[in-house]
Parts: sequence; structure tokens; C-alpha cells
Amino acid sequence: MQSRNGNIHLRSAGTSVVIDLAAPGFPAIIHWGEDLGELSESQLSDISIAARPQRVSGGLDNPSRLTLVPLESAGWQNEPGLVGSRSGQDFSPSFGLAEAQGSTAEDVNTASVRLRSVDEHAQLELQTTLTLDDAGLLHQQHTLTNIGTTDYELQQLLATFPVPQSARELLDTTGRHLRERSPQRHGFTTGRHVRDSRRGRPGADSTLFLAAGTPGFGFEQGLVHAVHLAWSGNQRVAAERTVAAHGLLQAGELLAPGELILGPGDRYTTPDAMGSWGDGLTAVSARFHESVRARPNHPASSRPVTLNTWEAVYFDHDLERLTRLADAGARVGVERFVLDDGWFRGRRDDTAGLGDWFVDDDMWPRGLTPIVDHVTALGMQFGLWVEPEMVNADSELARAHPDWILQAGGHLPLEGRQQQVLDLSNGAVYEYLLERLDALLRAYDIAYLKWDHNRDLLEAGSSATARAAVHNNVLALYRLLDELKARHPELEIESCASGGARVDLGILSHTDRIWTSDCIDPIERLTIQKYTNIVVPYELMGAHIGGPWSHSTGRRHELALRAGVALPGHFGIEWDISRLDDAELDELAAWVDAHKRIRELSHRGRAVYADLPDESADLRGVVSHDREQALFAYTQVTTSTSYPPGAITFPALDDDRVYRVSLASPTTPLEGPGQSPLAWTEHPVHLTGRALRTMGIQAPVLFPEQLRLIDIVAI
Ligand code: DGJ
Repeated sequence: MQSRNGNIHLRSAGTSVVIDLAAPGFPAIIHWGEDLGELSESQLSDISIAARPQRVSGGLDNPSRLTLVPLESAGWQNEPGLVGSRSGQDFSPSFGLAEAQGSTAEDVNTASVRLRSVDEHAQLELQTTLTLDDAGLLHQQHTLTNIGTTDYELQQLLATFPVPQSARELLDTTGRHLRERSPQRHGFTTGRHVRDSRRGRPGADSTLFLAAGTPGFGFEQGLVHAVHLAWSGNQRVAAERTVAAHGLLQAGELLAPGELILGPGDRYTTPDAMGSWGDGLTAVSARFHESVRARPNHPASSRPVTLNTWEAVYFDHDLERLTRLADAGARVGVERFVLDDGWFRGRRDDTAGLGDWFVDDDMWPRGLTPIVDHVTALGMQFGLWVEPEMVNADSELARAHPDWILQAGGHLPLEGRQQQVLDLSNGAVYEYLLERLDALLRAYDIAYLKWDHNRDLLEAGSSATARAAVHNNVLALYRLLDELKARHPELEIESCASGGARVDLGILSHTDRIWTSDCIDPIERLTIQKYTNIVVPYELMGAHIGGPWSHSTGRRHELALRAGVALPGHFGIEWDISRLDDAELDELAAWVDAHKRIRELSHRGRAVYADLPDESADLRGVVSHDREQALFAYTQVTTSTSYPPGAITFPALDDDRVYRVSLASPTTPLEGPGQSPLAWTEHPVHLTGRALRTMGIQAPVLFPEQLRLIDIVAI
């Protein structure tokens, strides 16, 4: 960090952040992007002079600046960063910078700065922390402290990131159950594009990130900046362009009226808002992945191949059927067997039982011991599904403790999947769930919990306080997950929420993977995984091979497509493989083997996506950091107007190295419609990274919904 003349320069991983401490109203980021190199004292000060706008007709005498917390008191007439009041008073804070503390860790590429600002009149203190980590990911957090003697109601505190003038197009994600993280693009014109989530969890429709870039930016090219909010509750993510040529991205928690009242001395810290940038989305995602992988709690072991029972047996918990399934799993190389929904008291379908976390005596007269013992004797880990935050009206728990249900008062919220949500911020609820889960983990050899959350929250108030309680529930959930892991250090937890409705780096700080979507149809998964992967690295993303007939779309696909799409993720199977014959099991085992051979590459390497001009096809891959080895998957998604489809080019290889290129299917896939053999598969070719990037190779001629793996190894 350099700090001279009131300016601060953070540098790391090819990124510079310049902060002007003297900007009127509040410190401002005046550059976030490409590394500006070592700046002299005068250059640093000249940068802030160069960034000062001129006064214009019809405007304020001091033109407003885009600061880290834009405020009306500094002339900001767009969305303010901070909103709150003391019963209507002190509604427009005005801060003065009291202190700026920079720190440089031993590693010179890590730098952060903490700014303390005070409004003596409104009696508020604001601490702002900016950290540029080793991956060049910019973390922004604010802590507001009420230093007055009366209550302060906080309505909004957002992190604000400036984006360059060239950012004229926005990309975010929308979605629904079975189709999460579907991309959408808009022109970034004057005005505000807001993505609020009021579902008590991010939700299937929430945006995982908001990106602003040069028109037409893709994965391989185009300057792009993006933010992600590491928070698992209500949230606001927005982009705004003003008539004064400011472009910004904002992210923060969405608070309900009265949800956050800061008493004298109380403080509130915003969730970690993370900003990434780069030339193309692959560069943006690389910073997220590198940062996530550097966390001390990032799973270090190989991700176990998982067999999940849900689509195989649903609620049919028959011991004999499940043991046959486990046998088949062990036969094909599964390493973790997860018993899904249906094992606990009263649970015959999804109308009853949630909350009663005791093994069902009728279905499991000898408890879970027979299945746990069977699975572990086969050398696999045992995992168990739970949905702790939920309760069915038809449960002993709901009958005994109706006040434990989140509600606004006077009536219960509308049901979703016949269930309500418990108030985890109520100490009694927390203790009950901790005791139940801990007891299960002590009673059985459980290595893994699949932690589900199958409905949005509505009117989520606590009976204990009569106030909205989403914020406190998210914090209580994080605490509960941490407490269970502290008590059972080997335990891994998967975060699932009707598939992928709670996907964010907040929940992933307390769990070990997400269930990406309930849709396992590989064609749908191509998009879902691609846009999830912008923030979430492959090893944290559950990706299973479903049966030939997709339960969510009704389409049929060959194994090579189903397995090839799942291959780079946290790989698994969700299919009744106890019905397969020996030849089919052998084929499946070959794919499991193939995954085990490449998981080191895909779970540590760089995820890349090609911007193919022909949108009927998809080319994606993983490239090792030393660029010695890569595996690409080429999918003909729909028919193409070109026939044969022409050349495909490969990003992210080393231009100057020579690579051997070959098709790599572990089993014999169905033939495509090509009339002659593809020349480069008959005569293996050795090409430079430059040739593969520029002229490429002819794509195989495939039927729609067929996939081929392409192995690329430096020689
Ligand atoms: C929703 C999950 O996404 C599914 O995988 C499955 O666990 C069901 N819930 C069980 O109810």
C-alpha cells in the first residue's frame, strides 16, 4: 500500500485500487482495475486531481463525486449508500474522515485499508475496510456504530464500487426452481437496475453476481467488472449510471422495516461485498476461484464421488433396496453414499415430519445402523439429508411449539411445500436443533450432512421480538453450522435449497459444497453450471449423473453427455443404478474412473469457456495452472446452420508450447452423423497453443445433445 498526500494505492495480482481520501463527503475509489504500477507521490496526487469533475450549469457548486458511501450531504442525488434515522431525525448523515490505517502484510501483494469516519451531529461512526487479496479480489465492508444515546434505525448500508466509462452492458442472472442462474443482459443506460431478493435466502431467481462491461463482453474478452455479495439472506444488488457520468455497482443486505435498530453502542457490519474485474468473464471468475481456494477452511481432500438416493428411490426407504443401491455404488467406485429425505419420524412424503429429527421406528426399526454399517463396510462414507430450519404443521414439533415458527404476528405465513420456517434466532429453537443434529452425529458414523432449505421465507418475524428476523436467522444459521463443525471436525456439509436457491460465498464459508440445481438434465446444466462457476469453483459445485430420462425435463440423453457435463464438478450419481446390468455398470465405472483421474485438474485448475461464434455449440474446459494439461468438453447443443460445424478454437493454453490433441471418451459414445472419420482423430495432431487459439481444429460432427471430450497435453 502506498499512502501519500491523502491518497491510498492498493496493489495486488495485477490490480490497482486508488482511494482519494480527500474527496468531498467521503473517501472515493477513483480507480479500480488494471495495475497502475508503482506511483510516485506526485503521480498519486495528480491522479486525484485528474479525477475532479468541473462545475456545470444547473448543478451544484461542488459537483458530487461517487464515494464509497454516496450521501446526499455530499451532493449525491442518486441511491444513497446509507439510509437510516432516529425516529425520522438525523436522516442525512455527513461524515468526516477521522482516521485511515493501512496495513501491508508480509506478502507485499496483500493490502488493506481501514477508514474511520464520524458524524458528530448524527452520532454515528462508520468504519470502512477495503482489502485487495492475493487474487486481486476487492473486499468491501462497512461497520456502522451508534455512538449516540438513542436508537438508530438502519434501513440500508450498501458497498459501492465504481466501474469505468466503457462499461455499457450489464450481465446478471435470474432463474427459478430447476433453472437457476440463467443469464440476462441489458444495456447499461442512465438509471438503476436493481436486483432485490426478499426470499429470506438468495432465491432461485437472485443474481449470483452483477457484471458491467464493454458491449458484447464475453468469457474470453471485454473489460468487465463484477460484484458478488457473500450473504445468504435478503439482499440488494444494483447497477446505476448517472447523468454525471458515474457508473457503479452496489451490494448489501436488504433490511425490513425495524429489522435493524441499533441501540446506543450497537454496531452492524455489512456482509463481504466482493469485486472482481478482468478481460473477459473467465478472468473475473479466476479471481473468485483463487480467493475461495486460498481460504483456510477450503476442502483440501479429493472430493468424494457421491451417490445421492433422491432421484433413485425418493421416499421409498426400503433397507433392501437401499443396500442394493449402495452395493452398485461401491461397484462403480462411489466414495460417499447420501441417504436423502424420508428417514425421520412420520416422513412418508413431503407433507409431514419436518422438525421431528428422530429416526422413524416403523421404517427403520433398527435405526439407521444397518444402512450406515452396510455403507461403511463397503468402504464408503455415509451422508444424511436434513432440513433443520423447516417444520411441517403436521409434526410433533409444530404442535408443541407454534411460537417457534417465523411469523409477522396474528397469523402464520402462507405455506410453501406444506412447510413453515423455524426462528433460529430464538435460543430455544437453536438449542433444540443443535441437540438433535449433534445427537444424530454422535449416534451414527455420519461424515456428511446434506442441509436442505425448501421454501422461501415470507413475513419472517420472530415471536420473541415481534420484529423482522431474516438478518438474525442468517447469523444464527452460520453459528449453528460452525458449532456442528467445531464439535465434529471431520464433518462436511452441503448447502442445498430446493436445488440451488441458496448459493453464495456466505453459506460456502460455513459449508463444503452447494447443490447446484435439482435439474440434472445435462443440457440445462450446461448453462446453470457455467454461470454458477463464475463465482463458485467446480469442487464446491455438486454435479451428478442422472438417469437416462431426466426427471425435470423429460428428455433422454446418452451417458457420455450426462457424465461429460458433470465430470469437472463435485461429481456424483443420482440414479437407481441397482437396476443396471454388468455392462452398464462397467460403463458407469469408466466415467467414475475418468473423473477421479481429472478431479485434481478440474478442482485446482482454471475453468475456461470459449466464446464460440456458433451458439449451437458449447466448448468449455479446465486448464492446469502450468498450462501443461487441459481437458475440454465440446457439446453440440442444438443443430447448427453450418454442416460440418467448422473450427473450434481453444483459450487459455500457452501460445508457445506444443500440445497433443486427442478425443478422450472413457467409453464408446454413440456415433455422430459424420460421414467420414475426423482426420485429427485418425492421425493425432501436435499443435502449438497459438495455433489452437487462432485457427483451432475442426469440431466433430455430432447429433444435437451429444458431447465429446478433448484431451490436450503438452509434449
Ligand atoms: C430438494 C433437494 O434439492 C433435493 O435434492 C432433495 O433433497 C429434496 N429436496 C428432498 O426433499
